[in-house]
Amino acid sequence: MSKTVLSGKPGSIGVFDSGYGGLTILKQIRAAMPEYDFMYLGDNARTPYGTRSFQVVYEFTLQCVTKLFEMGCNLVILACNTASAKALRTIQQIDLPRLDASRRVLGIIRPTVESIGELTHSRHVGLLATPGTVKSLSYPLEINKLYPDIVVTGEACPIWVPLVESGESCSDGADFFVKRHIDSLLSKDSKIDTIILGCTHYPLLLDKIRKYVPDGITIVSQGDYVAASLRDYMKRHPEMDARCTKGGSCTYFTTESVETFLPNASIFLNSAIEARSVSI
Ligand code: DGL
Repeated sequence: MSKTVLSGKPGSIGVFDSGYGGLTILKQIRAAMPEYDFMYLGDNARTPYGTRSFQVVYEFTLQCVTKLFEMGCNLVILACNTASAKALRTIQQIDLPRLDASRRVLGIIRPTVESIGELTHSRHVGLLATPGTVKSLSYPLEINKLYPDIVVTGEACPIWVPLVESGESCSDGADFFVKRHIDSLLSKDSKIDTIILGCTHYPLLLDKIRKYVPDGITIVSQGDYVAASLRDYMKRHPEMDARCTKGGSCTYFTTESVETFLPNASIFLNSAIEARSVSI
C-alpha cells in the first residue's frame, strides 16, 4: 500500500482524532461554521488510543499536531477526548512555545464540562469513555472545578471504539457490549440523570445507546457544545480568526490507506468524500 503525502489548504482549521470519531465533531463544527476551511486527520493506522499509555498517546498526538501544522493549520482541535485528556496540556505548555507560539491547540473536554451544570438536576453524572479518559480523571476534575457539588461516576468501555472502527456499530453483536457498559454504569450510581458520551466515537453508537439508557436520563453528545465553543473562541480571538481561511472546503487525511478509510468515513459523514493518505 503506497502512501502519498499531499498538502491541504494552508490556513485550514485542523481537526484531529485517533480515527473516525472526530468526524462526528467535524460534522457539527462545519454545520455551525460553514464558511471556514478544514483539514481532518484521522490516525486510523494506530487507533485505538484509549487503551494506550499516557506517553504513547502524547507522542502520537504531538506527531499528528505537528503534521497538521506542517500542512498549514494555525489552529488545531483535538477532537478526541483521550488526546485532550492525556496530551493537550503538555502540548500547550511545553511543545507550542517551542514549535510556534502563535499557533493554538484546543481540546474538547472543557466545552463539554461547561454544559453539564445546567443539564443535571440530581447532580449525579455518568461518564462513558475510553479507559484512558476515565483513568485520567480529567472529567471529574474539570467538572468539580466548575461545579463542586456534582458527583461523577465513570465507566470505561474498551471495546466500543474497536466496534466503531471495524464498522460494527450497527451490527446485532454490538448491542451486547453497549448494554453491558450502560448497565454497569447505572449499577454504580442509581441517581445518575445525565450521561456524557466522553468519546467522539460514541455518537456513532447513539441509536444503540438510546435503546439501553432509561427514559428520563439525558445523553450528552459533545458536537454541539464543541461547535458553539469554537465559534465563540473565534469571536474572542480575531487575530486567530484572521489567520483561518474561509473557503468552505474540507480535506480529509488518514494515516491508513485511503481504501480502508473511505468506506467507513463516508458512512459516518453520510456523504461521499475524497481522502489522502499521509505518513507521520
Ligand atoms: N475518539 C477518541 C476519544 O474521544 C478515542 C478513541 C480511541 O480509543 O482511539 O476518546
